[in-house]
Amino acid sequence: MTVGNARPGDRMRTALARLPRVDLGVTVTPCEHLSRLSAHLGGPDVYIKRDDLAGGPLGGNKTRMLEYVLGKAIADGADTVVGGSAAQSNYSRQLAAACARLGLECHLVLRRIRPSDDVLQGSLLLDRLYGAVVEMIGDDRTGQTSRLVELAAELERRGRVVYRAPQASDRDKPLHAAAYASGALELLDQTAAAGVDVTHVYVSSLDTTHAGLLLGLRSGGSAATLRAISPNERAIFPDRTIEEEVARLATEAARLLGVSDRIVPIDVDTSTDFVGERYGAITEEAMEAMRLFARTEAIVLDPVYSAKAAAALVADIRSGRLGPDDTVVFWHTGGLPAVFAYADELVVE
Ligand SMILES: Cc1ncc(COP(=O)(O)O)c(C=O)c1O
Repeated sequence: MTVGNARPGDRMRTALARLPRVDLGVTVTPCEHLSRLSAHLGGPDVYIKRDDLAGGPLGGNKTRMLEYVLGKAIADGADTVVGGSAAQSNYSRQLAAACARLGLECHLVLRRIRPSDDVLQGSLLLDRLYGAVVEMIGDDRTGQTSRLVELAAELERRGRVVYRAPQASDRDKPLHAAAYASGALELLDQTAAAGVDVTHVYVSSLDTTHAGLLLGLRSGGSAATLRAISPNERAIFPDRTIEEEVARLATEAARLLGVSDRIVPIDVDTSTDFVGERYGAITEEAMEAMRLFARTEAIVLDPVYSAKAAAALVADIRSGRLGPDDTVVFWHTGGLPAVFAYADELVVE
């Protein structure tokens, strides 16, 4: 129910505005109709939400989150950040960029997941350019977390005030999700102003992006179906399903923002059908989607994340799961540097 000029989602907007936040250059990202792609696919109208541009051309979904996450870290007195993920991680690269911009010392422990992961290319090259201190280790998530915990303690012994980003600590994952709900509210404002009734949103996400978007859509009064395409295999969490984790994060984010929405696993639509052999594997469907977006709209997708979500969108249009009466938003999360880091594996002819 709308009271006076109040809109659904206003409570969440107010709560977000009260959170500590730093400026990483995130402004309202474009939402555009992809007319040539829509005509080519011959199904629903497809729009794109350009969160690949959140925080600039080398930003992405994580920069939207980091404005709040590092806002909190700085409010808590942090002068140093430790974090890590895979060697070509977009999160780590956006974290390193944010730290450079904010004058924080950044330490990354990165996992090699491919033989070419020591080559200074893509996000790894940018991490170093932004001045992050980078340590490379083997592909062992447990070992990575232990090393990050040890590194944070070492830095604290040297007098640094350390913020532990994911992989070093999962504590602020609900804040990442809460921050991303802002993107969903932004989309709802844009589509309402344009008179577009969105029925489906497609996004590449394992957990926090998915949880934030789901919460923001529901809180903002949208009934659009959110379909998240996981970049990771189904067994990623040792003790819970992806659906349970997304529901937990969304619900904790709701609590953090003081809204009453509760998300349960059955509300969560996650597909692991487009991962391929493993996280980071290049698939034929993703390659086809990359070429299609590039050749109809000059939109560059990355092979690890956004192209796999685009592959699902294309497959769902071809199978009739999405039809001409639907209106879809493809949520672009970024990842551009991976195009260069994975150049030798891409099929572009
Ligand atoms: C380009 C891109 N898209 C999507 C995701 C998935 O986001 P989440 O970690 O919220 O599942 C990531 C995560 O690193 C990413 O880099």
